[in-house]
Amino acid sequence: MKTLIIYSTKTGTTKKCAALLAANIGADSCDLFEISEEIPEISGYECVVLGSYVRMGVIDKKISAFIQKHKAELFETKFGLFICCSLAEKVSEAITKNFSDEIMDHAAIIDCFGGELKVENLKGLEKLAANSFIKIAKADPNFRLFEKIIPESITNFSDVLKEI
Ligand SMILES: Cc1cc2nc3c(=O)[nH]c(=O)nc-3n(C[C@H](O)[C@H](O)[C@H](O)COP(=O)(O)O)c2cc1C
Repeated sequence: MKTLIIYSTKTGTTKKCAALLAANIGADSCDLFEISEEIPEISGYECVVLGSYVRMGVIDKKISAFIQKHKAELFETKFGLFICCSLAEKVSEAITKNFSDEIMDHAAIIDCFGGELKVENLKGLEKLAANSFIKIAKADPNFRLFEKIIPESITNFSDVLKEI
């Protein structure tokens, strides 16, 4: 299944997930691009996957713009979307907020691959935001943070794409 995977990452987790997904699908048949690179024509692929981190509830704006711009082509091919984020209870909200109803209706699968909060690599306001998530999670047992990538979600995602 010739697959195009396009991702956007701030601290490396979404990139790692994109590479794991490519390995699951079959690295030989996957082309992997960061959103800022020159992306080849979608029409050359049987399947397209887009992945982004979530910050302040929002996915990368270049990924959103790409989906919007290539909507018609995406709807004619098999496509999947994934996010990486930390707030486990906000996954559904992040998906519905960032992907329109028609995108959700046409996508073969939309899922979250978990996330990692690498506070040591952050500075200033980003570090403050990350630390506040951790503080809230420690104080509230109902507030769950993803601490790592969920490999089972990546396996399931590639299985769904292969089966369709
Ligand atoms: C400044 C900042 C804001 C974030 N905002 C959110 C958010 O609104 N919702 C969420 O679930 N995760 C949020 N996260 C967590 C990231 O989505 C998570 O760390 C993700 O794994 C990052 O992926 P990346 O390494 O590919 O950038 C935030 C992280 C940072 C540093």
